Amino acid sequence: MSFPFITAEEAALHVCHGDNVAMSGFTASGTPKLVPMAIAKRAEALHNEGKPFKINLYTGASTSDYVDGALTRADAIAQRAPYQGTPVTREAANIGAINYYDPHLSHMTQDLRYGFVGDIDVAIIEVTEMSPNGDVILGAGLGMTPTIVQMAKKVIIEYSSYYSTSFRGFHDNYVPFDPPHRREIPIYHPTDRIGSPVLHIEPAKIVGVVPSNESESVRQFTERTDTTRAIGKNVADFLASEIKKGKLPKEFLPVQSGVGNVANAALYGLAENPDIPRFQMFTEIVQDAVLDLMKEGRCSFASTCGFAFSDEAMLSFMADIGFFRDKLLMRPSEISNNPEIVRRLGLIAMNTALECDIYGFVNSTHVNGTYVMNGIGGSGDFARNAYISMFLCPSIQKGGRISAFVPMVSHVDHPDHCVRVIVTEQGVADLRGKDPMQRAKCIIDNCVHPDYREILRDYIRQSRPGHIYHNLGNCFALHRAYAETGDMRNAVFS
Ligand code: COA
Repeated sequence: MSFPFITAEEAALHVCHGDNVAMSGFTASGTPKLVPMAIAKRAEALHNEGKPFKINLYTGASTSDYVDGALTRADAIAQRAPYQGTPVTREAANIGAINYYDPHLSHMTQDLRYGFVGDIDVAIIEVTEMSPNGDVILGAGLGMTPTIVQMAKKVIIEYSSYYSTSFRGFHDNYVPFDPPHRREIPIYHPTDRIGSPVLHIEPAKIVGVVPSNESESVRQFTERTDTTRAIGKNVADFLASEIKKGKLPKEFLPVQSGVGNVANAALYGLAENPDIPRFQMFTEIVQDAVLDLMKEGRCSFASTCGFAFSDEAMLSFMADIGFFRDKLLMRPSEISNNPEIVRRLGLIAMNTALECDIYGFVNSTHVNGTYVMNGIGGSGDFARNAYISMFLCPSIQKGGRISAFVPMVSHVDHPDHCVRVIVTEQGVADLRGKDPMQRAKCIIDNCVHPDYREILRDYIRQSRPGHIYHNLGNCFALHRAYAETGDMRNAVFS
């Protein structure tokens, strides 16, 4: 069967107001580019005619300006899950223009199959190779694609010719059975392959193929600063000492690293410490740093859900694709982040906190408890189930006017039960085996910025004793001081 080549504008006509639309990819990588922009244009045209047009949008993780950016600007998104990181979408979520919710990434795909959001009307997926029987090779991100093409009533394909080299062999497409038939997911080592490099799409569902030649346009991370460098060094020194103490196997364990500048710096920190053995990764996303570490021989393999490489790094990856072929593997997000596998492999999980409290609760998503930054992403999938779960952050933000450590977090993503170690540029708080008050002392002494240590000790002194000391009148005094004076150091306890 041959599939009709159509324009992005023609493809957009297959998407109707109120549709549940799912897209391929993970972060910007592997997402469709031209069709979402054409849907945005169609939405604007319909809005100009006074007609309604909004879709419910489900993706593997965040996307790009082609998807979230264009569709948000066109006011074309009603419901959005499970993660966003595009500034305009963030703003829309924060003013209620988009109904945004952020489940754990490992849950989203099965939530779709369980029917929790209804049918999938249209799947829009980027492929890099395809044959007339509906077999395709995906691109730089896998996300939820195997499930969405199974579920969708219609599939629109964006056929990318951006990649000069074949992606064949970098994907492990796999869909688990659902309860009550779910069996173990047979991954016992980060390199294990359990699915197929090729994804089959029922030909009758494919309504058209849109040629594309767009890059992923992934943004580059900022250079390491003294602060992020110090966090990376503290992480590596701590893990090296864990090996010496026999608390980590001497051959090390697979590493998961979160998103953002801090997580990126932590990976470089591991690579720079000669006492950390060459390591493997079992993670949800790999960024430019991982390519460097592979070339330096510090990282030997990474299982991931997507390649979030900047355009420059993607070109160098393609130029050297032979070197990377046996070192990188993409899995669907429900597998890359699967709690069963995270627990079995015993991951060293490194995720980032916006805000922590003195007892070890972590807020990764909401500034001042109200303003959503991105979402929980995969951090909860990994944090709860890892061998050792670490949260990293600078001790202060905005020139010291904000302390990352407060008496009580303004929003909880990761409870104290899931947070084993906290690392800042100041040092490391090892919270394992400690009760709440021991944890508070450990965090204040080791992680809190010196400007805030006495303030937080003062909070405890003025609190109601119990298993956890708190004063419900004072617990948000630092947040209040920031809102009223622009500096948390002006906190006053009553
Ligand atoms: N209050 C107010 N603003 C804060 C803050 C706080 N407590 N902590 C951080 N910020 C601001 C920073 O000042 C910065 O603002 P800017 O963009 O204006 O400079 C911004 O948040 C990002 O902080 P930064 O220190 O650069 O960290 P980052 O790039 O590493 O991102 C998270 C940190 C928490 C936003 C990001 O890691 C995230 O979204 N995590 C949740 C999802 C996740 O962990 N996924 C990974 C699973 S694999």
